[in-house]
Amino acid sequence: MDDKRYYVTTPIYYVNDVPHIGHAYTTVACDVLARYKRAQGYEVCFLTGTDEHGQKVEKAALTKGETPLELADRVVKRFQALWEKLDISHTDFIRTSQERHKKGVQHLFKKLLASGDIYLGEYEDWYCTPCETFWTETQLMDGRCPDCGRETDKLKEESYFFRMSQYQEALLRHIEDNPDFIQPRTRRNEILSFVREGLRDLSISRTSFSWGIQVPEHEQHVIYVWFDALTNYITGLGYPDDSNLLFKSFWPADAHIIGKDILRFHAVYWPTFLLAAGIPLPKRIFAHGWWTVEGQKMSKSLQNVVEPNMLIEKYGVDAIRYFLLREVPFGLDGDFSHAALIHRINSDLANDLGNLVSRSTAMVNKYYAGVLPNPGSFTETDRNFVELFAPVVQQVDSQMNDQAFNKALQSIWGLISAANKYIDDSAPWTLAKEADQQERLGTVLYNLLEAVRFVALLIGPFMPDTADKIMKILGQDASCPCLADGSSWGGLTPGVEIAKSAPLFPRIETE
Ligand code: MSP
Repeated sequence: MDDKRYYVTTPIYYVNDVPHIGHAYTTVACDVLARYKRAQGYEVCFLTGTDEHGQKVEKAALTKGETPLELADRVVKRFQALWEKLDISHTDFIRTSQERHKKGVQHLFKKLLASGDIYLGEYEDWYCTPCETFWTETQLMDGRCPDCGRETDKLKEESYFFRMSQYQEALLRHIEDNPDFIQPRTRRNEILSFVREGLRDLSISRTSFSWGIQVPEHEQHVIYVWFDALTNYITGLGYPDDSNLLFKSFWPADAHIIGKDILRFHAVYWPTFLLAAGIPLPKRIFAHGWWTVEGQKMSKSLQNVVEPNMLIEKYGVDAIRYFLLREVPFGLDGDFSHAALIHRINSDLANDLGNLVSRSTAMVNKYYAGVLPNPGSFTETDRNFVELFAPVVQQVDSQMNDQAFNKALQSIWGLISAANKYIDDSAPWTLAKEADQQERLGTVLYNLLEAVRFVALLIGPFMPDTADKIMKILGQDASCPCLADGSSWGGLTPGVEIAKSAPLFPRIETE
């Protein structure tokens, strides 16, 4: 039973920024995994949420004349509304300002304090406020933060420390023994060399601001935002009480999906906290690449932030979901441009997929009054065509398990192209004119519509709305796109009514 459970997480998003295409990217990727596993009969836990504490949020609220919680309440709604529009099927939404989270973070903190893994000391180092990170003198680049290039301040404060140095060897061993733990491989290598250089103890409390979770019994100390934030992955399951047994059933997570900028926190800090607490490590941390926009870094100051709501309104939710995962191999950086998006919509969606569905359904309506004919005996062309399908299910499965979304889509599009070619090669319009070709016409149309059903099953996790529409056209129960049962050839029953379909993806004309 255990292996029929799947737990996937997004990072929790900062509330000092409004959602943009980068946030949508991570969340859509997780949603596709969650839907895919559900379609295979897994029980899925899919957690997303918001990271609300820290100095940045405190400052942002101050400049807007709000309390940090008021600011968070406002921005959280924007994330939640966007996830609804994007058809995100998360099972829970955690906010770090929630009591359940606070309780879990304090519990973990106390546990590590009791075991001696957390101790009180004093800190003097260079602090980058935007990155919420301390740097040593030697780590600075020309006196500036090596990550973001901004100015740092020298800070000295009493601080609690986590004995991260103690866990260097155990973490190294874990990464070395589990080649899939950190993906993609290039990122894993970066982390390996970072850990091999040596881990310092980590300052995990602050006294310079107050918007955060307090250190139990030492309330002028606020727990470091990353200790707070990372713990969401277990507090979201009910840690430590676990009254619903979610933690017991779903931990360790199958996949933490994150952007490359926050890999170190996830692949070094988080596992060492867990090692210290005696909690098993997540099975995989996958760091995807970053999107630029029309060749430039996306930033407020350049005013080129791509707003997902606008894109969804203009192009439709499934087109955006498809584009994000098809355009760029997951793990690499990519560029967002309207031209590329329109190209994908016109060629892959309108031309390949849309035409396949409209041509096939139109022919059943024209030649059989919308009633799916019986297939007769197969020619070699039919056999070759039909035999393409089952192996692609296996192929897509291994691609999905590798988070190789673009490859999975390529595999599915291979079937779509083959189906379009099957139409052209079999020329049903010629068969329709010949009295002795009626059985063959029935076979070709049955195979085509069955191919369409197959494709709808496979694209379901990526484009749930489109898959539902296609299933309805085929007279199938759209609510159960169950890959586990439906992915063998012959699912359509002859005699079923096939509706006429309006174009699924109208072409977008550009000047
Ligand atoms: N709050 C932290 C995460 C804590 S998780 C325990 C955080 N939040 S964030 O809102 O800044 O970023 C969330 C995610 O959005 C990250 O995975 C980041 O990589 C992703 N992206 C932000 N901008 C992006 C692009 N331009 N392109 C792709 N993803 C990007 O970090």
